[in-house]
Amino acid sequence: MKQTLGDLAFYGGPAAFTEPLFVGRPNIGDRKLLFERLEQALDRRWLTNQGPLVLEFEQRVAELAGARHCVAMCNATLALQIAARAMGMTGEVIMPSFTFVASPHALSWIGVTPVFCDIDPETHLMDPAHVESLIGPATTGIMGVHLWGQPCAPGTLPALARRHRLPLLYDAAHAVATRWHGRPVATLGDASVFSFHATKFVNAFEGGALVTDDDGLAATARAMRNFGQTGEDQVTYLGTNAKMSEASAAMGLTSLEAMPELLARNLANHRRYATELAGVPGVRVLPYTSGNNHQYVVMEIDERVTGVSRDLLRAVLTTENIRCRSYFAPGCHMMDTYRGSPRLPHTEAVSRRVLGLPTGTAVRDDEVIRVCEIIRFVVAHGPAIAAKVTNGSAARTSARPPAPTPR
Ligand SMILES: Cc1ncc(COP(=O)(O)O)c(C=O)c1O
Repeated sequence: MKQTLGDLAFYGGPAAFTEPLFVGRPNIGDRKLLFERLEQALDRRWLTNQGPLVLEFEQRVAELAGARHCVAMCNATLALQIAARAMGMTGEVIMPSFTFVASPHALSWIGVTPVFCDIDPETHLMDPAHVESLIGPATTGIMGVHLWGQPCAPGTLPALARRHRLPLLYDAAHAVATRWHGRPVATLGDASVFSFHATKFVNAFEGGALVTDDDGLAATARAMRNFGQTGEDQVTYLGTNAKMSEASAAMGLTSLEAMPELLARNLANHRRYATELAGVPGVRVLPYTSGNNHQYVVMEIDERVTGVSRDLLRAVLTTENIRCRSYFAPGCHMMDTYRGSPRLPHTEAVSRRVLGLPTGTAVRDDEVIRVCEIIRFVVAHGPAIAAKVTNGSAARTSARPPAPTPR
């Protein structure tokens, strides 16, 4: 328990955790089942190119998504590129800036210009009214992002896209298994892309998938992920290599089976953070509607109230071995690659306030309680800590660079 400022590791006290706590430390699932599947793949000597494990994974993911087709790929970034290309996106595509940089990079990489729209500061999701105002002659599509697993404007965005005859692709990297009014969020729009990266809710070491009800789109995407081939000696499209391996599918299947346990842990952690931080002035844990996979616990900190900025709080927590993430800062429109994009006030304000907190199966209840104790302590002494930093009497340990997050 920290009693005085000197007890903080930031000022030379002992760190609260001897081992670091991470955001998105991989969920492992049943190792025995994983190794059995890997053994089978080795025995078959079938390691990639649509092996039986990939086919089974695709079937399970399609069921989970409520979609007719699942096209498994080696990661979500390539799946987004292929989806955008197969959906005929060229010119400009409207999308939020408040997302992981993979979302706009996937479009830019295939020569499509992302046009960034602002968000609703309450939910962090793209603002459909702003999307509509940005539609112009060069617009060829809309990319929504189900950020933090929340359904992105489910009532308005699909209708808006239909009205303007624009294809609607969802980056659903965060939304594996999430539901909206009981239906999988992946049933919204024309196609959705999941990520099965090691740090995601369901992981396949690295992996992604496009899910859709559109038979033609699925067939095109299948070909594009395999060099554009539609037959053994037939190349129909400009393609790439985005195939998922059998090893990834083995992990993906094992991880899918572990979902009830993963969800229970995520939900318990989220509830614990919300309870422990309720009523702390200037602190808000982003609430989700039911059906979320609770993969992310996102806290907002209002410096005007707490006296301590998000970045200073993060630095203090890092020295305690609590490795939070400033997801997603800065907004993509502020990054060097996208310099010159118009300013987005809500995105910029939210991206200064957010902090992703450690959760997942590697984080226990008592650890969440301890993290919250320290957050409450720092906030209670916010102005004093900020003043010490300003006066140059900060932290003996703050210059220590954090260890890289395992990914
Ligand atoms: C919103 C979003 N989109 C896309 C991606 C890219 O996923 P992948 O790492 O599978 O390429 C991520 C990954 O973190 C993400 O958070």
